[in-house]
Amino acid sequence: MRRKNCHFIAHLLLVLFSIPHLYAKEQIQQLKVIDLKSDYEKNPIGIDFLPQLSWRLESGQRGLTQTAYHIIISSSLEKLNAGNGDIWDSGKINSSKSTGIYHDNWKLKSSQRYYWKVKAWQNGGIASDWSEPAFFETGLLSQEEWLSGWIGYVPGMPGRVQYFKGTFVPRENIKQARAYISGLGSYELYINRKKVGNNVLDPAQSSYSTRVYYVTYDIADYLLQAPNSFVIPVAQGWLGSPRLRIQVEITYQDDTMEILTSDRFRSVTTGPIKYSTIFDGEHYDARLENPQIYEPGVPPGLMNEEWAWAHNTDDPSGKMVSQRVEPIRIVEEITPTLLKELAPGIYVFDAGRNLAGWASLRVKGDAGTKISLRFAETLHENGFVNQENLRNAKAIDTYILNGKGIETWEPAYTYHGFRYVQVEGLPSKPLEDDIKIKVVRSDLKQSGKFKSSNPLLNDIHQMVVNTEASNLHSVPTDCPQRDERMGWLNDLTVRIEQAIYNFDHSRFYPKYLQDVSDTQDAHGTITCVAPFRFGMRPADPVSASYLLLAQKTYEFYGNKRVIEEHFDGMKAWVDYLNSRTNNDIVDYSYYGDWCPPRDFLMDPNGSGVSRDTPGQFISTGYLYYCANLLSDMAKVIGREAEVVRYKALAEEIYLAINREYWNEQTGGYASNNQACNSFALYLGLPDETKVPRVIKNLVEDVKKHDYHLTTGNLCTKYLLEALTEHGHPDVAYKIATQTTYPSWGFMLANGATTLWERWEYLTGDAMNSHNHPMMGSVGSWFYKYILGIIPDFNHPGFEQFSIKPYIMGDLQSAEGELNTVKGKIKSAWRRQGNNLTMEIGIPENTTAIVHVPAKSVRGITEGDRKISTVKEISVLEETKDYVILKVGSGNYQFKSRI
Ligand code: BGC
Repeated sequence: MRRKNCHFIAHLLLVLFSIPHLYAKEQIQQLKVIDLKSDYEKNPIGIDFLPQLSWRLESGQRGLTQTAYHIIISSSLEKLNAGNGDIWDSGKINSSKSTGIYHDNWKLKSSQRYYWKVKAWQNGGIASDWSEPAFFETGLLSQEEWLSGWIGYVPGMPGRVQYFKGTFVPRENIKQARAYISGLGSYELYINRKKVGNNVLDPAQSSYSTRVYYVTYDIADYLLQAPNSFVIPVAQGWLGSPRLRIQVEITYQDDTMEILTSDRFRSVTTGPIKYSTIFDGEHYDARLENPQIYEPGVPPGLMNEEWAWAHNTDDPSGKMVSQRVEPIRIVEEITPTLLKELAPGIYVFDAGRNLAGWASLRVKGDAGTKISLRFAETLHENGFVNQENLRNAKAIDTYILNGKGIETWEPAYTYHGFRYVQVEGLPSKPLEDDIKIKVVRSDLKQSGKFKSSNPLLNDIHQMVVNTEASNLHSVPTDCPQRDERMGWLNDLTVRIEQAIYNFDHSRFYPKYLQDVSDTQDAHGTITCVAPFRFGMRPADPVSASYLLLAQKTYEFYGNKRVIEEHFDGMKAWVDYLNSRTNNDIVDYSYYGDWCPPRDFLMDPNGSGVSRDTPGQFISTGYLYYCANLLSDMAKVIGREAEVVRYKALAEEIYLAINREYWNEQTGGYASNNQACNSFALYLGLPDETKVPRVIKNLVEDVKKHDYHLTTGNLCTKYLLEALTEHGHPDVAYKIATQTTYPSWGFMLANGATTLWERWEYLTGDAMNSHNHPMMGSVGSWFYKYILGIIPDFNHPGFEQFSIKPYIMGDLQSAEGELNTVKGKIKSAWRRQGNNLTMEIGIPENTTAIVHVPAKSVRGITEGDRKISTVKEISVLEETKDYVILKVGSGNYQFKSRI
């Protein structure tokens, strides 16, 4: 009864406080704490470190901020419900923080579920109810708890998938059943013939000699009170030879535990998959299917011709780490269009767009009939698939029929980058649905949306999103199709921002940051590619991506731990680069501003090295950039000495670049081309006296090339941004909306649905992928300058952010959104003549610095009222083109004259 009264009073207060907002027609609700996440995941299992807790507030009230929170973590749901925080009771903490919360005091045990809830207070002192309970469950917290070792069948035939098997009868009254498992390169787990979960290509890639990811499965619902058969097919994947490590832990109601180690899964055999490799594809002979494999029971006659006994192996030697990144899954199914029967039994299908994944097959025919599926991005003129640009990747899947009626199949341990599939050997003309396309990638949620009045920009946006989506396979790959598929750190330097606007990388980037850090040696060097599979050590100095991964993860998701954990590594990389300077100029470069248009290459028939943009200028610019980033990040974690030290280093490099590359005669940097001048502007290298000359040169150069770019993967980003920020958004817009070579519109005009690696349309056996994210930085330009949504490093996790749209070119309107850790940000504008309407949505517990394009503050209204009467809005400043406001949470509609 007392609780009810409190509730009533709270509600009454809420209503009273909210009266002015009712006028604003806002939907008033009581404050709710929702979306509880543990390390950016809802109710995860298998956490092997202290998870960072986060939540969101929901109320619909304007100007809502959190003033305090209270968290309770309990070792059981009963305790949580009784308010007994035996693991942690934070008490009421006065803070607006709602992300990245963890405490070293938490004493966690392995394989335990912990429940937690949150209460929040809003400005005005009103408290929410307790949230719904959430939980996180630990995995194996120490390496010693891995009682299982690695097993493998070393004489196993190369390329063959090996099936490991064990049978197990549990006792009655199971309380909890978990399987902790890693099979390298990749594996699936079947219990009693059923696949556990819907992940594919588990586990995530890593440098296996340093770290191996294991996955935790809740298997309680799969177990019978009878012999249970566990089968784990393991393919070579990126390791090269199958290996398995599995630990099954069954806890009974009486709290006793039974542990099955790898020893229980030593029976090993081969099956219908004759080979499966990432690049070449999968070969499946259905005549070799043996249902016996999946039946419970120890296979008869171990070491006979069918079954072998797996050995202990000490490889891979990396430590076991719980996989915290989104798994790879089938995220979409497409019915392709049958283009043509090219020759008897040869059909070509079109998925409608370039993508990463595979095809499924439904077929009926005689035993021994061989069907092959060839994957390609383009077609030859005669209609057959063109696989030339896949270089040494065969990209062919093969299925051999067993002839037992309708057969359905799809591969499991490979994937392809393709738009077209050439199917050969079909016994009859395929019906619709006989071939389906499965889109396969790390299952990250899309976080942003963008649309504008210019359909070309919308198509470019979609092309960028398609490309990014095709290149998320537990690492951000350079391409999904040819014999490469590596995480290239040079490309990533300009890709991160685009990717983080379009997809939720709150888990993916901390994982990838670890991959980069795992490549680091005692000298501080990292490698060109992470995990390190090939390429150079040290990496190209343009690999600022190492620092940007941490910086952006902190800025977007409020994850400070990535900075704490990786600061020393990032510092060692910057120190290494600094050790490679002569007179403060970095002494090496491999790629620099890679792959500018052909006429600007060092060798038009050679690699992607630029003729006019000096590599060392770019390398040194990145050292300057990184020294600043490091100093800023040192500040976040209170490393004061490094704040000063790396600012000083930045200052030293700044002087050196200006000394070495500023050309007083031309008024530009280095060769005075687009790349050099835009990079210099982006970095802030020219002082006030130089800036106008550099911009003038830059704009003239763009005009000289008839508003086309001459930049490569890196400086294309800086070109658009520097022009926009230095008073020439219309010039940037013209470049972005070109349809002739070189431009994104040119790619689209030539049928691209994903970005090319080169500005040219090339299809031969060389470096010319058709699904390459490195040229996609225009994707972040849409969010940053057309929608104008910009996070604030000093207020991470969108505690505060800006909205500053540029009204440019012939654009009449734009709209979009970004899902953040605080909720959805919306930004939309449209103009009619000189009248502008701008609609924005600011999530609870955030503040936005809103730049309303306007001639003066006097003409601006919000929801038909003068802005001076709206209490959530304060005017900060008036500039030539904008009125700058500070605005609290809520939805707003501004009208202004521009
Ligand atoms: C990769 C590129 C990368 C380049 C650097 C290529 O093979 O695909 O994305 O920038 O190598 O050399």
